[in-house]
Amino acid sequence: MAHTEFVGQSAEIPCTTTATINAAATAAATAAFKYKFGDEGYLLDYHGTKVCYPMYESLPVVERFQANDKDICIASFPKSGTNLMAAIVWMILHDGDPKVPHLEYALPGMPPNMLPANTLNKQAGPRVFYTHLGYNALPESIKTHAKVIYIARNPKDVIVSTNYFFRALKFKQFTGTVQETFQSFMNNVCAFGPYFDHVAGYRRHVSDMANLFFITYEEMVQDVENIIKRVARFLGKELDNMQISNIMRCCSREQMQNNHTTNLAHLHQLGLMDFNVSPFMRKGIIGDWKNHFSPELNRQVDKWIEQEQQRLHNELKGFHFQYETYNIAA
Ligand code: A3P
Repeated sequence: MAHTEFVGQSAEIPCTTTATINAAATAAATAAFKYKFGDEGYLLDYHGTKVCYPMYESLPVVERFQANDKDICIASFPKSGTNLMAAIVWMILHDGDPKVPHLEYALPGMPPNMLPANTLNKQAGPRVFYTHLGYNALPESIKTHAKVIYIARNPKDVIVSTNYFFRALKFKQFTGTVQETFQSFMNNVCAFGPYFDHVAGYRRHVSDMANLFFITYEEMVQDVENIIKRVARFLGKELDNMQISNIMRCCSREQMQNNHTTNLAHLHQLGLMDFNVSPFMRKGIIGDWKNHFSPELNRQVDKWIEQEQQRLHNELKGFHFQYETYNIAA
């Protein structure tokens, strides 16, 4: 791997999509979105995951996706640090600006041949892609063949991050508060939920799936060097110190906020997102929920977390969410 800078030269290629998808994004900027957040028809239950419109239109193609042993699948509940892990994995494998497609990505009326699941299917491995599908909704060949990296993030920060993201995503027409976003989580009407089943669905396979690497956003943010080394080992790649420090620099919050490949500024330019509400690359910290939760909301969220952790006690055994930054030197 060459030690080139990660400079975001390919502005037209967002890291979450491919060049072909970008062309469709331009068309979709003016296309009508049939269902917005909260509409009947906005969510479709697919093997236990509530897939949102228009992504669920890609599912027949996703179902036929054939993974092989070289493939790398990054799985997460949305807003859990997917793009950071995508950048790390891409840099370990290829160097340069990350181009990691979203497996079930779709825009209204997108021609099937433009769906990432279709274009990926035609590519030779190793392919790197990400998904927000829960474990039971994953194509079988991914579970049995691909290397799967799952990222979990504490639910309080995920709720806050989701609130900003949904309000900024114009086509969702979501104007809800953080409290209302929490209610959508609690009532299992959030995209790719239910949240706890998502985390627990992967967590329960940590001991029986050698091809699964389970990590938290908080671990990534607190000790990215260690995570880069561990991910590289999982992928069977040797990195020297220069490569590691290059990846650390390129995947830093500041770099990714300034790099137009990773900050997805083109979505603002296309009118799909309103960065005045929130940029795609927002704060990138642990514990921002403290700036948004009232004591009463925090009590409600804690109660929900406790109930859900009890319900999924077996699956989540030994796993603890991290809600604030710890002093790792202590
Ligand atoms: P916030 O909204 O809390 O800032 P995803 O990639 O799954 O959509 O997750 C988005 C969250 O990851 C956002 O959280 C974003 O700021 C954070 N993030 C993205 N890149 C990051 C980085 N390099 N370092 C720290 N956090 C990052």
